[in-house]
Amino acid sequence: MDFMETKRRSNLTRKIILAAGIVALLIFMLKRSSNNSTSIKFSQHEPGVTHVLVTGGAGYIGSHAVLRLLKDSYRVTIVDNLSRGNMGAVKVLQGLYPEPGRLQFIYADLGDAAAVNKIFSDNAFDAVMHFAAVAYVGESTAEPLRYYHNITSNTLLLVKAMAAHGVKTLIYSSTCATYGEPDKMPITEETPQVPINPYGKAKKMAEDIIKDFSKTSDMAVMILRYFNVIGSDPEGRLGEAPRPELREQGRISGACFDAARGIIPGLKIRGTDYSTRDGTCIRDYIDVTDLIDAHVKALAHAKPGKVGIYNVGTGKGSSVKEFVEACKKATGVNVKVDYLDRRPGDYAEVYSDPSKIWNELKWKAKYTNVEESLSVAWRWQKAHRSGYDY
Ligand SMILES: NC(=O)c1ccc[n+]([C@@H]2O[C@H](COP(=O)([O-])OP(=O)(O)OC[C@H]3O[C@@H](n4cnc5c(N)ncnc54)[C@H](O)[C@@H]3O)[C@@H](O)[C@H]2O)c1
Repeated sequence: MDFMETKRRSNLTRKIILAAGIVALLIFMLKRSSNNSTSIKFSQHEPGVTHVLVTGGAGYIGSHAVLRLLKDSYRVTIVDNLSRGNMGAVKVLQGLYPEPGRLQFIYADLGDAAAVNKIFSDNAFDAVMHFAAVAYVGESTAEPLRYYHNITSNTLLLVKAMAAHGVKTLIYSSTCATYGEPDKMPITEETPQVPINPYGKAKKMAEDIIKDFSKTSDMAVMILRYFNVIGSDPEGRLGEAPRPELREQGRISGACFDAARGIIPGLKIRGTDYSTRDGTCIRDYIDVTDLIDAHVKALAHAKPGKVGIYNVGTGKGSSVKEFVEACKKATGVNVKVDYLDRRPGDYAEVYSDPSKIWNELKWKAKYTNVEESLSVAWRWQKAHRSGYDY
């Protein structure tokens, strides 16, 4: 009796183990085949589907670009080394577009030529939006080599990989910092580029590399020179979440939110005796939603063998005082303001002439109310007090 019972039990155990083994094998095979079919989608061109490589897609502007591209039915691959971006932003995007063949994330450093080449060998890209960069003027002065490496030489590597793998459309993130301190406002695309810090110089050199290469190839290139980017996704899915250690380097919108949250004691206005309407500096603030719309239009209008260069700004400047008032209204916090002497190297007025991009791409900024842009961004900031969760 005992012997029979033991035998029956061991038979049952064997059957359970066998069944579990078969189930595990099936799950493994299913996963493999779905992974394979997903990676096949990324590795083959598909008629009617444009596959865009978004470098720096885990960062502030890049993640907003990915959201828009996915919404517009593009296939997207993000490459990011997460040095400054957020895996949390990638997770949000993956959650919104989980279908196979829509979005993949590749963790890689654009300075690693072998990794970059492998990415281009494994994937069939139709276009590249190159956002990845370190992007703080002050930091660039303290660490110039980092900036020339990360911006200029990584762009060279990327363009070489594109050429080697026959990827023929590039949208490049440049900046008004390439103009330096122009004598005349507004800044047009013809304004001489005389950058005054390593960030602006590194971006200008990257532009020159792209422009020179394009003379020898049929690559379709759009260079977009952004002014000061603010705001975030109006539906509150994404936001700007720089690393805490970069706060010091921070941009004015980050400083506004940090002051409103009490992370910093207040805002500092440097210089009140400029020859502007209220004595403080004037800058051109462009909402990230508008900026990304300019990228989508640039992608649609890119032509083989041509380089389109466009300022992306509103054409209208806001003074620092006006910005601070907008910050107070948007956050509802009566942020403390200290008035200090001018900071050496700051120029009184910087704003764009955006007529070329309107004439040629029919793009113009729609979200031009700074207070509204800050209110949208503040909603995300309040809901994500410590940034993304990852
Ligand atoms: N934010 C602005 O106001 C502004 C203005 C003008 C131009 N730009 C340009 O826009 C682009 C995006 O800026 P942002 O504000 O979103 O910055 P960000 O720091 O939020 O995003 C940059 C992303 O690039 C990634 N990255 C950096 N180096 C990399 C590398 N070597 N390999 C792979 N990934 C790397 C970072 O991890 C990050 O996710 C940059 O090229 C910047 O110069 C920004």
